[in-house]
Amino acid sequence: MCGIIGYTGVKNAQDILIEGLRKLEYRGYDSAGVSIQHDGVIDTVKSSGRIDALVEKLGDGIPGVTGVGHTRWATHGAPNDTNAHPHISNNGRFAIVHNGIIENYESLRAELTADGVCFKSDTDSEVVACLLELYYDGDFKSAVYKAVGRLEGSFALGIVCADHPGRLFAVKNMSPLIIGVGEGENYFASDVTAFIGHTKDVIRLSDGQAAEITAESVTVYDADGNETEPERSVVTWDIEAAEKGGFEHFMLKEIMEQPRALEATIKPRVKKGRLAPEGLEELDISKVSRIVIVACGSAYHAGVVGKYVIERLCRIPTTAELASEFRYSDPILDESVLVIAISQSGETADTLAAMREAKGKGARVMSIVNVVGSSVANLSDNVLYTWAGPEIAVATTKGYTTQVAMLYIFAVWAAGKLGRISSEREGELTKCILALPERVQHAIDLNMHVESLAKKYHTYKTPFFIGRNFDYASCLEASLKLKEISYIHSEAYAAGELKHGTIALLSPDELVIAYCCHEALYDKMMSNVKEVKARGARVLAVAQEGNKRVLAEADDVIYVADTDPLFMALTQIVPMQLFAYYAAKENGCDIDKPKNLAKSVTVE
Ligand code: AGP
Repeated sequence: MCGIIGYTGVKNAQDILIEGLRKLEYRGYDSAGVSIQHDGVIDTVKSSGRIDALVEKLGDGIPGVTGVGHTRWATHGAPNDTNAHPHISNNGRFAIVHNGIIENYESLRAELTADGVCFKSDTDSEVVACLLELYYDGDFKSAVYKAVGRLEGSFALGIVCADHPGRLFAVKNMSPLIIGVGEGENYFASDVTAFIGHTKDVIRLSDGQAAEITAESVTVYDADGNETEPERSVVTWDIEAAEKGGFEHFMLKEIMEQPRALEATIKPRVKKGRLAPEGLEELDISKVSRIVIVACGSAYHAGVVGKYVIERLCRIPTTAELASEFRYSDPILDESVLVIAISQSGETADTLAAMREAKGKGARVMSIVNVVGSSVANLSDNVLYTWAGPEIAVATTKGYTTQVAMLYIFAVWAAGKLGRISSEREGELTKCILALPERVQHAIDLNMHVESLAKKYHTYKTPFFIGRNFDYASCLEASLKLKEISYIHSEAYAAGELKHGTIALLSPDELVIAYCCHEALYDKMMSNVKEVKARGARVLAVAQEGNKRVLAEADDVIYVADTDPLFMALTQIVPMQLFAYYAAKENGCDIDKPKNLAKSVTVE
């Protein structure tokens, strides 16, 4: 997810672009750049790092009243100066900014390279600038439509041409793009945040539409290039609300973004109905004797889910270990052991130290990480990126679910490679994984009532989460969510362990949240629910949609979207993310920035 902006009017374009990029920085912040058109040329400055690094590099700045800007969340190509946007055509006539993924960029790049085009970056986006040059014969609009007609995938594009002063093109397909209509000036951006301080009069482009923008006019064309009447509206949000897309907190926004984050993570790894996770070509899974997953916090909980699924499918002995413990445990490793490090930020000190410990003992290290070019990624022999986009809230949600999805992809791919599952079963499981974004959306839709349950139960002081197998992994994550944002002390317990001591704590003042989604262990869980009910505790059960039996035992039930039993852990965490969110609201907590916490724990 990146942020793009464009401006043409009478003001200094650089000032407007930098101001707008700062408002878009939450959409991506590993590199940034601007291109400004003046005196028949386009000047471009771009830099890795935050917007401040770009401002420093700009020095006295670039003159001109028309330009485009970009702040990047790297997907293809490390976050460095060369890969930063804007990207320029070989002859310098065009500059483009792009948000999205050009899925056919490799074939386009090969075709253009064969024609003598020289690519400077490793990005998918650069092909757009080169196609514009290829098709340009003096007609700006025609070059735009011919170039865009070659693209497959998602894109919000901003384009400036040296030959056409004061004129911009913006094109939308699947990625967000909005036009700001001012007085004697006009804007485009990834969202209204970038220009809401200048105008709230907007035109929301639809997929396939393009806008030709000058200081005095905005002309909207349909997919065939015919002029069409734009849909104009006035934004009622303030700047702060706009950054959160209208949600009250980033955490709620990111919970709701999970279907899209999962789709962006899963879809590129499925080719012709088969899982094809990139970056594993040289991993010979048949030579792996053991797998050790190392991570911290929620990433560790994802690892616990991964342990259950990898062992079930691949029959490779797998453990999930806390990185902070692993690093000091003098682990027994060798080159036959695969260590999988999981990290959203890619900068967690304990996880990095665990990786170094593993490498020092000869193990192969693979990582599942959300930040391209992060320390974890750079330290890995193999990297599987989650494409969740920037996660701003300290409490991870989309970071966690995309990590779990990536572990499912790895487990099914490895089991197929090992012949542990039939080709038919691999195909079935791949279909289930592809359907997970829709299942998570259904889980969100099913649980809009969770707010009332959070209001009912947020006064319980020390709720217990109980579950078995991967339901227990969900208990770990649900308990951490509740603790870290609502400050309610809770505990996750393997349900079978309760009777070995802890059940002594149960009383009518206690709440037990029982995960009852594991079909094979459902009857055992019902016995546990009866046990805790007999001690007077209240029971809030989490069960598959359609399970009516649980109603007879629990005081309240939260239903989750059903999917293959192997993958329930991903959908069943959603209601507890929402429960923790609403409990924290009831307790008046600072949800996006909980006390004592940081988004990335880069110290021991
Ligand atoms: C998750 O809600 C927490 N904020 C925290 O446990 C986090 O998962 C942990 O610090 C690991 O961070 P990482 O994924 O960036 O390595």
